[in-house]
Amino acid sequence: MSLYAIGDLHLHFQAELKARDQKTSPLWRDHEQVFLKNCQKLIRPEDTLLLAGDHSWGRKLAECEQDLQYIIDLPGRKILLRGNHDMFWDAAKTAALNAQFEGRLNFLQNNYYAYGDYALVGTKGFTFEGPFYLDRRGRVIGWDHEQEEHAKKIVDRELTRLRLSFEAARQDGYRRFIMFLHYPPTNLLEKDSGFTRMAEEYGAEQVIYAHSHGEARFADSIHGSYHGVLYRLVSGDYLRWLPLRIL
Ligand SMILES: [Fe+2]
Ligand SMILES: [Fe+2]
Repeated sequence: MSLYAIGDLHLHFQAELKARDQKTSPLWRDHEQVFLKNCQKLIRPEDTLLLAGDHSWGRKLAECEQDLQYIIDLPGRKILLRGNHDMFWDAAKTAALNAQFEGRLNFLQNNYYAYGDYALVGTKGFTFEGPFYLDRRGRVIGWDHEQEEHAKKIVDRELTRLRLSFEAARQDGYRRFIMFLHYPPTNLLEKDSGFTRMAEEYGAEQVIYAHSHGEARFADSIHGSYHGVLYRLVSGDYLRWLPLRIL
């Protein structure tokens, strides 16, 4: 039994593809077929595959049906996390999605999923990408205070959701955690954040995150061990569409 993770499939079997790098970068060429073949070689029926957000370009559930069916048809148990592009998934209606896709897909939000003696917890997260502007050398050349206030509110809401996920698992007796975020745990300017501190507070063994795709963004956040927690980026193009074995 193994646990794998990958993120940012950005499927578009129905919706129009607008992302330029996805149209032009060789890393994205036929990525659905490459990923499908990799999964079929690697993942067995008893395994779990965590998809760390940005599943589909569709804006409504009706525009995501073929994308979700593609995910359903992958081997193993599939657990989905919300990404910033997953408009089809209203966080407040996660229970309804779980009922609709019962036995086929599992949606991780304000809940947790068991994997052996581990609890898989998570939420979308958020990083302050907008409030500051950097020049090419990474020097701060501007700051939007209004955006900063807005970002703080989103971060607080996401931390509340993440705590709900941890607490649900803890109440059921789980003491070992793997924590999933869609956004990186820190932005370019941060060494730590509310998300890294919560990972440490609950003793999460690993923090798995996505969202940073395109080679220029792979190094945006933490890689490797920091304060005893292992941080790993699993955006699909970073992994060349080969799911990363987490446990
Ligand atoms: Fe993405
Ligand atoms: Fe994203």
